[in-house]
Amino acid sequence: MNRNRPEVLVLYASGGGSTALMAELIAAELEDFAEISLQRLEPGRKGPDPENYDAVIAGSAIRYDRWLTQMTAYVESNEQSLQRRSVAFFFSCLSLAGGEDGRKQARTYENRIRNLTSIQPLSIQGFAGTLNYSAIPYWIRIPFRVGMKIKGLKEGDYREPEAIRAWGRRIKAELRRRWENGMDRDRDLRSGKTGAVA
Ligand SMILES: Cc1cc2nc3c(=O)[nH]c(=O)nc-3n(C[C@H](O)[C@H](O)[C@H](O)COP(=O)(O)O)c2cc1C
Repeated sequence: MNRNRPEVLVLYASGGGSTALMAELIAAELEDFAEISLQRLEPGRKGPDPENYDAVIAGSAIRYDRWLTQMTAYVESNEQSLQRRSVAFFFSCLSLAGGEDGRKQARTYENRIRNLTSIQPLSIQGFAGTLNYSAIPYWIRIPFRVGMKIKGLKEGDYREPEAIRAWGRRIKAELRRRWENGMDRDRDLRSGKTGAVA
């Protein structure tokens, strides 16, 4: 293990695949500072143990106003462990591809994520996602299309790589500050790997 650098888990959940790019862009921003483990959280899986990392960046697509259930379950079931490390959350949704109403809606997603647990993330950030009808289950495609038409949203990719990278850089700066202030000793002490704090 290279303790010159923090170990950071970048974990994402996706239904249609488009949230993967967000996780990849965030991971890429952190690569010059941390050892990154980039993983997709599959439905019904326990997922990686946060105890193996100094920091966790976790995000999911929004479906029906919520994170995908596997990400909610992951955060809830790892609450204690996540509480003790640096954590940042993100979500992808279509509301942020719209106007002020959409931004308001996205704030409700943010609050819902915040209220899931007593974890105090260093940030919860939403990003506009994609509208790709072929990724939508066929039985809801028609009502979905109607809903999007009402909102005036056309099929397309609304992701903003630069906004995602910029958030990644902000998280990196905060993690760097925490790392320089002893984040590594905190983790090693908790896991009993080291004796005293210098
Ligand atoms: C079944 C379904 C439900 C969705 N519900 C919402 C929603 O409630 N609010 C929202 O803003 N976007 C919603 N979206 C849009 C997705 O969050 C958006 O398409 C996102 O980019 C999908 O990411 P993914 O490709 O990683 O699954 C929904 C998409 C699908 C397919």
